[in-house]
Amino acid sequence: MLPVFYVSPHIPPCISMRLFLLSYVLLQLLLRCLSTKERLQSQAGDGCGHMVMYQDSGTLASKNYPGTYPNYTLCEKKIQVPPGKRLILKIGDLDIESQKCESSYLTIQSSSTLHGPYCGNVMPVPREIILDSNEATIHFESGSHVSGRGFLLSYASSDHPDLITCLERANHYTKAEYSRYCPAGCRDIAGDISGNIGEGYRDTSLLCKSAIHAGIIADELGGQISVTQQKGISRYEGVVANGVPSHDGSLSDKRFIFTSNGCNKSLSLEEGFLSKSQVTASSYWEETNEFGQLFQWSPDKAWLQVPGLSWASNHSSNREWLEIDLGEKKRITGIKTTGSGSTMLNFNFYVKTFTMNYKNNNSKWRTYKGILSNEEKVFQGNSNSGDIVRNNFIPPIVARYVRIIPQTWNQRIALKLELMGCRIMQANSSFTHSMWQKPSQSTETSLGKEDRTVTEPIPSEETNLVLLFNYFNIFTAMSTPKIKLSDKSPDCKHLTCCWKQIKQPFTRHQSTEFTISYNNEKETPQKLDLVTSDMAGNNCFPCDAFILLCLQSR
Ligand SMILES: *[C@@H]1O[C@H](CO)[C@@H](O)[C@H](O)[C@H]1NC(C)=O
Ligand SMILES: *[C@@H]1O[C@H](CO)[C@@H](O)[C@H](O)[C@H]1NC(C)=O
Ligand SMILES: *[C@@H]1O[C@H](CO)[C@@H](O)[C@H](O)[C@H]1NC(C)=O
Ligand SMILES: *[C@@H]1O[C@H](CO)[C@@H](O)[C@H](O)[C@H]1NC(C)=O
Ligand SMILES: *[C@@H]1O[C@H](CO)[C@@H](O)[C@H](O)[C@H]1NC(C)=O
Repeated sequence: MLPVFYVSPHIPPCISMRLFLLSYVLLQLLLRCLSTKERLQSQAGDGCGHMVMYQDSGTLASKNYPGTYPNYTLCEKKIQVPPGKRLILKIGDLDIESQKCESSYLTIQSSSTLHGPYCGNVMPVPREIILDSNEATIHFESGSHVSGRGFLLSYASSDHPDLITCLERANHYTKAEYSRYCPAGCRDIAGDISGNIGEGYRDTSLLCKSAIHAGIIADELGGQISVTQQKGISRYEGVVANGVPSHDGSLSDKRFIFTSNGCNKSLSLEEGFLSKSQVTASSYWEETNEFGQLFQWSPDKAWLQVPGLSWASNHSSNREWLEIDLGEKKRITGIKTTGSGSTMLNFNFYVKTFTMNYKNNNSKWRTYKGILSNEEKVFQGNSNSGDIVRNNFIPPIVARYVRIIPQTWNQRIALKLELMGCRIMQANSSFTHSMWQKPSQSTETSLGKEDRTVTEPIPSEETNLVLLFNYFNIFTAMSTPKIKLSDKSPDCKHLTCCWKQIKQPFTRHQSTEFTISYNNEKETPQKLDLVTSDMAGNNCFPCDAFILLCLQSR
């Protein structure tokens, strides 16, 4: 018997038993606590920061990068690329406070060679390390220090000798045209970008983050980017796209533009599209104001090019949907969305996140999934009612019908949208661009998988009366109704919209083969097959679209 039992003989045995158990449990907890603290000190991952690793490439940084890494920390990670290939590492930044690399350093250990230790803040460190094997262990540790950013590095397989890190900016390059390989994981790296896909990015922008913003590569995967440098413009517009914000930027000497396959035209601006295509919804909201005017937030209001009200659902549930019938199977590469306020100021309705379903003539609805995960992809939509937010589909959706299913929203589900893409035939010839060919399990397999079908919406009781009041007050307060609401018969004279003209930076060229070489390190020429298609005709902005509508209705 244990002595604890005999400590207080006057206490009944059941209670002393409980006391014993309690003290035992407390002791155990204490011990566990201590050992966790000890273990934490030596845990291989606690000095690691941002990390995205994919089979072909990845990005690793020390904890808090680009802030100061912690005292007494350790980060040890094994990285690898497919067998038979060699591993290429690019060190983007290394700033480790240490005189002789005793207590704080970075090493890279492959099966046969130890690279490093590296430390300091000037770069006697190689920017590129080509290993003789397909795997290596990154080891970073620190002692006590005051400052230092730690490290940021990227890796890829030897198939991509033109690998860069997430920190490269376009103004590091002087060539008019070049192509590089972006690693996976550049989206969440600190650093500014300004501009947008159409007019280009300010040359101070991070290249790979801009490519994610532009929808050229997916963050989970990385990929090849092709860039053209051009004369700068006086102002760069900041917009949110693919979960990345770009910022407004001022005049710069140079800007850069990504070469894409051209499958990015507005589908709703195609000739006859607005009449051929159909929009339907699970429900819509209908209201009569105090003057007896009827406002229908019907699905046909959902086109971004049509000014006025947006579509709004009658109910608030995550089973509401907006469905678009494109009339024929198309390749859909992106979607732009906005809330109620892009043309109707003062309504604060917008969709924050949404998912997509798609199908063809007689098939079942399929869920759109991200490029790597087997889960439904949740798109980051709007964060206010007025700005237009773009999301790209990598891989593209090939379908005739798509459904947007709002998951979260502000006040009420309300949406205006535009789909981007191209005809299948048109896409066929230009789909030689490398980004669409990897990974091999892209479009076709994700089309082939069976997913859940969307069930009919469940009506919800939720109605917001305060909201309705606001709506009517604001509406009657609008002194000059510049936009004619009944867009069933649009009258061009009553419309206001802004004309914008963009100079097309590209001249038409097809399948240009060219050779590039690198200005740093080894001269490794690489042949690229670049295809740009006709850029004309997609500089249409709301006005263009609306005139089109006017012309069609005459
Ligand atoms: C590390 O510890 C020293 C001494 O305690 C302290 O002055 C320093 O700020 C610490 N550094 C970090 C990055 O926390
Ligand atoms: C489509 O891509 C081309 C080439 O990158 C670009 O010039 C054009 O502005 C893009 N169009 C849209 C609508 O984004
Ligand atoms: C909206 O829902 C309410 C109650 O659920 C219903 O009475 C009304 O008819 C619906 N409005 C429309 C336009 O469907
Ligand atoms: C789908 O339906 C459209 C018209 O309803 C038809 O023209 C087209 O051929 C059909 N496509 C397939 C693959 O059945
Ligand atoms: C489209 O692609 C298929 C195979 O990918 C090819 O056989 C066909 O000739 C292409 N069509 C056109 C018009 O380029």
